[in-house]
Amino acid sequence: MKEELAAIVLEVESTAPGIARRADFEAFKATISGPNGKLTAVMKGMKNVPKEDKPAMGQLINQAKQQVEAYYAETLERIEATELAAKLGPAIDPTLPSPDIGPGSLHPLTQTRRRMEEAFRKVGFTVAEGPEVETEWFCFDALNTPEDHPARDAQDTLFMPADAAIENVSKRGDERYILRSHTSTVQIRTMLKEKPPLRIISPGRVFRRDTTDATHSANFHQMEGLYVDKNVTIVDLKAILDYFVAEIFGKGSEVRLRPSFFPFTEPSFELDMKTPNLGKLSNQWIELGGCGMVDPNVFKSVGYDPQEWSGYAFGMGIERIAMIVHGIDDIRYFYQNDLRFLQQFA
Ligand code: DAH
Repeated sequence: MKEELAAIVLEVESTAPGIARRADFEAFKATISGPNGKLTAVMKGMKNVPKEDKPAMGQLINQAKQQVEAYYAETLERIEATELAAKLGPAIDPTLPSPDIGPGSLHPLTQTRRRMEEAFRKVGFTVAEGPEVETEWFCFDALNTPEDHPARDAQDTLFMPADAAIENVSKRGDERYILRSHTSTVQIRTMLKEKPPLRIISPGRVFRRDTTDATHSANFHQMEGLYVDKNVTIVDLKAILDYFVAEIFGKGSEVRLRPSFFPFTEPSFELDMKTPNLGKLSNQWIELGGCGMVDPNVFKSVGYDPQEWSGYAFGMGIERIAMIVHGIDDIRYFYQNDLRFLQQFA
């Protein structure tokens, strides 16, 4: 049996390199490993091997099988490469540029973010940034969000492991690290660093424990706005939103503030927009985000005197605005990087 196995391996080793076509390969393989093949016959012979020799024989058979299969793989790879070359034709010049790919362009979310930034820049806002890994204090406590608020729940917010050490994100106490669930955190980081008056927007990525569907993603983008000065009123808030909406959606667009609640603003509003310029969505109220007057407790947590300073804040979804502007009905398109989608925004 041992000799038989050696002979089979030798036969495969010497024959396989000479086989050029797939059909010949399959026919040869059948003579070795097919139902009536030589190797199959040896394996069937195992049942007549005395019990005490079985383990050693089994090992030899396995070894032979592995060797034979390695030759098969090598041969098949060579045949496939030849087939592919035949299909493509001999005259390939791999240094030529690829025929269909045009120049790249900005992602629609980047385009939307830049349009939004541009609108706010024109009226004196600067861009501020904060980390995507945050601490509970910056995301909740400093923003006047009570200990038992549902947003703090592990069902809504992504918490880092308790022993995570992230040295470049400052902590206040021994609170936990999280992935920020909104860009409102940047209000706090900016106010701690700078003295009022200030006027910032903060675009960036946020994370929620959401199941993905057409309108939800565990990871999306927001733009926060914050204005702090003396004697800021709701009139100022409404004016900036009127201006912004007209910049993005065109003349004739309107803003509606609907009373609502957010821990960090008082009073708080949902921000709705209506415009005649939107095809199917024309002249309907569409929600863009939230806003309100900065809650005195937020000023206290950053050491600003609420008697002296006042301000407004707002937060909007960047995907949401891009979807409205372009008539996109599924948020998942933004993250699939399918060129057929992206090229529409080139
Ligand atoms: N942070 C809120 C959210 O993610 C949005 C928001 C609402 C931001 C009101 C604000 C605001 O600045 O004043 O849902």
